[in-house]
Amino acid sequence: MINWLCGLCLAVQLATSGAGYLERNYPASVIQDARLTTLELLAKYRHPSEEHFVTTSDGYILALHRIPRPGAQPVLLVHGILDSSASWILMGPRNGLAYYLYDSGYDVWLGNCRGNTYSRNHTSLNPSKDRAFWNFSWHEIGLYDLPAMIDKVLDATSFKKLTYYGHSQGTTVFFVMASSLPAYNDKVILINALAPVAFLNHIKTKLVKVVRAMMALLFGKDKPMELLPRSKLMLKMCFISKTVLNLCMNYVSRAVGGDMKKINKTMIPVILGHLPAGSSIRQVQHYLQLIKSGRFCSFEYSPKKSMLKYGSLSPIDYNIENITVPVALYVAENDYLTVPEDIQRLARQLSNVVAHQIFNNWNHADIIWATNARRRLQPKMVEISKRLEYFQKPWLTTPEPQKGSKDSEEDYEE
Ligand SMILES: *[C@@H]1O[C@H](CO)[C@@H](O)[C@H](O)[C@H]1NC(C)=O
Ligand SMILES: *[C@@H]1O[C@H](CO)[C@@H](O)[C@H](O)[C@H]1NC(C)=O
Ligand SMILES: *[C@@H]1O[C@H](CO)[C@@H](O)[C@H](O)[C@H]1NC(C)=O
Ligand SMILES: *[C@@H]1O[C@H](CO)[C@@H](O)[C@H](O)[C@H]1NC(C)=O
Repeated sequence: MINWLCGLCLAVQLATSGAGYLERNYPASVIQDARLTTLELLAKYRHPSEEHFVTTSDGYILALHRIPRPGAQPVLLVHGILDSSASWILMGPRNGLAYYLYDSGYDVWLGNCRGNTYSRNHTSLNPSKDRAFWNFSWHEIGLYDLPAMIDKVLDATSFKKLTYYGHSQGTTVFFVMASSLPAYNDKVILINALAPVAFLNHIKTKLVKVVRAMMALLFGKDKPMELLPRSKLMLKMCFISKTVLNLCMNYVSRAVGGDMKKINKTMIPVILGHLPAGSSIRQVQHYLQLIKSGRFCSFEYSPKKSMLKYGSLSPIDYNIENITVPVALYVAENDYLTVPEDIQRLARQLSNVVAHQIFNNWNHADIIWATNARRRLQPKMVEISKRLEYFQKPWLTTPEPQKGSKDSEEDYEE
């Protein structure tokens, strides 16, 4: 704890002495993007935007951001842990998936899960004062937030079904929902699962031990708390000098895998200006439990609490067999967090996998932010989606799925 605090003091000291590094080395427009909100980014890049609020059945008030195209097929995009709606646009109009979907004729909705910078509100709990506000993991996001978001989108657009895109935890919460509330399978045409996370026993990230130790040190078992809200801290701490920036990026790459060479270096401030965007520590604790148990199951409480909450002494496995919605899996070969073997195991249990594609040279972050994502992945997803959207029409039957392809590309330097 003392060491950790000293490290923080040192970083703050360095941050004050290193003022100006960011301004000297990055375009003003990039620095501005790092500080804007999702809606401000959309306005800056001349796209229409709307903000909608939806209240979950347990009282959380969530913000949905929309790039509206009224009358068009709605798509819902849900971000990963410590991330937000900004993730889908922060790389700019020539790269961001949300822009590509809008240009491909979709009505684009961007979700924000409870606890992040845009969904930090509740009908009766105060996130700054009430610990109970933070008493959730991604289990509750899957059970309450996703159904509320999906119903809101369908209600607002008068469509019966939407197409879903999730990254990382954005897929975990979908699998929680679709297995626990099977009726929602009928409200979704297809889930495009980017770096899908369910089983985690082959995780390769070098930071598991560190994170586990920090969690144990800083947070007691029964103290749900806010984790890493959006702040200027990352920009201040990492952009002191080239050496410190390299150190920061080294940590990021140890966490997500591979190098960070496929991501436009000039845009790194934008990423670190928007992430982390806030979560509950319970979300991390829940993933740590999965790494340990090798299961895909609900949060592990004490047997007594577990009995009260789930009616079972131990965590309940999510019934993957109950997921009937078509699933397209997009896997990054160098992903240290959700590794291809664990996704294989998930794929074997899913009954309706319509695509399973592995991308070499990519890691957990490249799959949404790589400079070549627009060329290599986004058109593929839209093609598969359009086919399934088309075959939704009742008089047509679903086409033969295409599975197991691998997209290989030579590594290249910018
Ligand atoms: C939180 O929600 C309440 C009730 O809808 C609203 O009055 C308030 O303005 C919201 N607060 C923030 C910070 O958005
Ligand atoms: C969090 O939720 C669990 C399970 O419902 C409950 O047992 C516990 O008391 C709650 N803790 C807080 C701080 O609200
Ligand atoms: C990287 O980002 C900068 C700033 O937005 C942009 O000018 C440049 O064209 C981008 N490079 C690539 C390869 O996308
Ligand atoms: C989910 O699947 C389990 C077994 O795989 C089955 O017993 C259960 O009835 C299913 N639940 C629903 C709501 O369909």
